[in-house]
Amino acid sequence: MKIPREYQNLSAFLKQNKALIILGPRQSGKTTLLNDFLSGSNLRYKLDSGDDIRVQEILGSQDFARILAYASGYQLIAVDEAQRIKNVGLGLKILVDQIPGIFVIATGSSSFELSGQIGEPLTGRKTTLTLYPIAQMELAHLHNRFELKSRFEESMIFGSYPEVVAAADKNEKIRLLNELVGSYLLRDVLQLERVKSSKLLLDLLRLLAFQIGNEVSWSELANRLGIDTKTVARYLDLFEKGFVKLKEKHPEILVGLRQLGLMMGIEMVNEYCGPAMSLTCYKNGILSVYANNDKRISQLLPPLIITRKDAEEILERLDAALGDAKVMLGLAAG
Ligand SMILES: Nc1ncnc2c1ncn2[C@@H]1O[C@H](COP(=O)(O)OP(=O)(O)O)[C@@H](O)[C@H]1O
Ligand SMILES: [Mg+2]
Repeated sequence: MKIPREYQNLSAFLKQNKALIILGPRQSGKTTLLNDFLSGSNLRYKLDSGDDIRVQEILGSQDFARILAYASGYQLIAVDEAQRIKNVGLGLKILVDQIPGIFVIATGSSSFELSGQIGEPLTGRKTTLTLYPIAQMELAHLHNRFELKSRFEESMIFGSYPEVVAAADKNEKIRLLNELVGSYLLRDVLQLERVKSSKLLLDLLRLLAFQIGNEVSWSELANRLGIDTKTVARYLDLFEKGFVKLKEKHPEILVGLRQLGLMMGIEMVNEYCGPAMSLTCYKNGILSVYANNDKRISQLLPPLIITRKDAEEILERLDAALGDAKVMLGLAAG
């Protein structure tokens, strides 16, 4: 079953000499949307993937001649998984600036945007769409209000990844969701955060899922996860102490530390800091997201089963990331 998407008619968003950027979480349907559009298009197009090492080399090269030769003879260049290409923003800029009348589409997971790769070079040269899993509004093309209402509970339980919505029965939905958890959540999050026990992470996620909309209590979480509240407290303490040192070292950027439930929030001097820290933390091996409602805040979610050595290492990496962010934002002293 194919679910019609709100953005199904991509041509409405496509402009000559502008890049159409389709962002969205993995598995939200970006590739499918792109393929559907291309297969119905009359334009002479070239579709490549950022997974392809040759494409990475060419579009990442900043070499005008190579990039123009690559696109020669085509009216539309489409790049799936563009976040895999280093400096892809510049590559796309060269295409839209140098080839009169060209259409360009690039898709990428949300980290694409965070990495800041496309923002700056493509300022004023792009249209961005964000594709989320299926919205109720999109299901309304297939089901009437009565049907949507009776399916609502199921939507709440199984969510709306397109593949899961389209699955024939409950068992299939469960199988697909397990696969998503295994391949994306565990692979991406565990790797980045270096959590040692995936069971603990899953237990924690399950607990958090039941707490949506409630205040989170450390002691309750520690209790239910069967770890010592003291461990949680000790870990908090390690960070607080380390943070005082970081603040002495980086007064130009750091303002304070906030505790947002399970998260640590690092408050900085201005709204450019959060996005910059997402990038510099990533480069230093830490996953950090900025708060959407306050971009001065970077959020960190370190594993609860952290050791002293881990905490020290995170603090060291934070130190490096803060240093990099200061340079990036021109806040470095001297
Ligand atoms: N509109 C849709 N209707 C039904 N299934 C879809 C739809 N869009 C995507 N899917 C399915 O969801 C899965 C993920 O889609 P994909 O386009 O590969 O996502 P992404 O490129 O964002 O990771 C695929 O199995 C695909 O067949
Ligand atoms: Mg894809």
